[in-house]
Amino acid sequence: MQSLILAGGKGTRLRPLTMHTPKPIMPIANQPFLLYQLELLKRAEVHDCILSLSYQPQKIEDKLGDGSFYGMRLSYTVEASPLGTAGAYRNAEELIRESTIVFNGDVLTDIDLNEVIHFHREKNAVATIVLVPVPNPTAYGLVETSQDGRIQRFLEKPKLEEVTCNTINAGIYILEPKVLDYIPAGESYMFEYGVFPALLKNQEPFYAYVYDGYWRDIGTSTSYLQANLDVLAEKVKLLHLPARERGEKFDEAIEIDALSLVDSSCTIKAGAQIINSVISRNCYIGEKARIENSVVRGGARLETGAQVRHSVIGKGCHVGRSATIADGAVLGDKSVITDYSQI
Ligand code: GDD
Ligand code: MG
Repeated sequence: MQSLILAGGKGTRLRPLTMHTPKPIMPIANQPFLLYQLELLKRAEVHDCILSLSYQPQKIEDKLGDGSFYGMRLSYTVEASPLGTAGAYRNAEELIRESTIVFNGDVLTDIDLNEVIHFHREKNAVATIVLVPVPNPTAYGLVETSQDGRIQRFLEKPKLEEVTCNTINAGIYILEPKVLDYIPAGESYMFEYGVFPALLKNQEPFYAYVYDGYWRDIGTSTSYLQANLDVLAEKVKLLHLPARERGEKFDEAIEIDALSLVDSSCTIKAGAQIINSVISRNCYIGEKARIENSVVRGGARLETGAQVRHSVIGKGCHVGRSATIADGAVLGDKSVITDYSQI
């Protein structure tokens, strides 16, 4: 079994955060996102992974290298212009020799891939898709199945009136190399609009494995923030979090609650409060600043009395004295917010 991660999207719905950091390495609880997916693969004894890149590929390659630091063997394909989800898989054809686990490079889950592999083999499937139930399928690919788990219909981004069930494509597939024959070479092509409907039309053995555990697409800023909070709350049973700093390393006069994750390189001043938040490397948190349910990326500076609630602060931002950032605000890298501003 080999694997391929689709990691070439532009991350438009996660702008401005993805202007300088591609979505696949946006940190979740201070770890590049893709490490969570590599962890799932490793747990299923899948050590070979192709990363399919297009947007800011060098940044991803610089971060993950050959993967040996993480016990993985990584290889890379880079598209000059995006080839779409299926086009990206076809583009890696020369590296594909056997059954392949394909991941959308933005889904956070703790699924046991061994069970999916077992299911795929038992069904003798040409393709298996993992499905998850969600309250509103309109932002996803809707998938109807029959009782024996065969896929009946695949409808990408259905309109509300087209919704017939609550199961959607989780962005995790197992594909046999035969699926490559359904994808034209060298042009943009999608699994969701092209390949999956064609597999159905040709009555290929195309199956669904339903997972009812933790799953989230991190591709919008609301979802990205929530994914961080979910990891803090240990809703995702994956990477071990680095020991959380509960104040021992910092001044006694600051408060850091048991959920928060604060990098030890930060400077935190007396009276600061950090509640249910992630603070990355080299941040400066001024006196009596308060950060709650938020993510603060590396090198940010929050002056005395600044308040941040339910928001994401980009790299190297400067939040002035007594400024308030609240209710889902997202500051792009290097934003400067003047003293007493309210965002
Ligand atoms: N290499 C490469 N090239 N990767 C791509 C390209 C491309 O041209 N286009 C998209 N990707 C990657 C993205 O980086 C992302 O990791 C993944 O493919 C899915 O793209 P999204 O843009 O995030 O799609 P989506 O979230 O709207 O919908 C997809 O995911 C849903 C689950 O989260 C679909 O597969 C839906 O059917 C599915 O329900
Ligand atoms: Mg997505």
